[in-house]
Amino acid sequence: MRRASSGLAAGVLCVCLAAHAEASASAADASLADAWRAVRTADCARCHGKDHEGLAAPSIVGAAGTQTRERFIAAVLDGNPPMGMPAYRGNPLIEDRIDAIYRYFAGRADGSIPAGALPRRD
Ligand code: HEC
Repeated sequence: MRRASSGLAAGVLCVCLAAHAEASASAADASLADAWRAVRTADCARCHGKDHEGLAAPSIVGAAGTQTRERFIAAVLDGNPPMGMPAYRGNPLIEDRIDAIYRYFAGRADGSIPAGALPRRD
C-alpha cells in the first residue's frame, strides 16, 4: 500500500514536470525560430558558410561552443570591421534578438539544435 501511493505521487510529479517542460520548450522554440529567421535574413551564412560552420569566416557554431556568452555577443554586436566582420549594433534585426541568437548557436554547438531549418511552433 505504501509503495503504491508513493508510486502514484511520483507519477503525478512526472506529469507536472513534463507539462511544464513542454510549455517552456515551446516558448523557447518560438524565440529560437525567430532568431534563426533573423540570422537567415541577415545572411550570416554568406561569409560563415552553410549551416554557419565556417567558410571565409570562422564557424559561428564553434565560436558559441568555445566562447563565453559575453564574448560571443560582443563579437556579433561590435564586429571586427577591419577583418571583415560587420558590427550589428544598431541593427534591430540582430541586436533585439541577440540573446536568442546566442542560445540558437549554443544549442547548435551542444547538439541540442540540429543544423538546417527550425520547425515553426509559434
Ligand atoms: C561580410 C562577411 C560576414 C558576415 C555577413 C558576417 N560575418 Fe561574422 N565574421 C566574419 C569574419 C571575417 C569574422 C572573423 C573576424 C576576425 O578574424 O576577428 C567573423 C567573426 C564572427 C564571430 C566571431 C568568431 C570567432 O571565432 O571569434 C562571430 C560570433 C560572428 N562572426 C557571428 C556572425 C553573425 C551572427 C552574423 C550574422 C548576423 C555574421 N557573423 C555575419 C565575416 C562575416
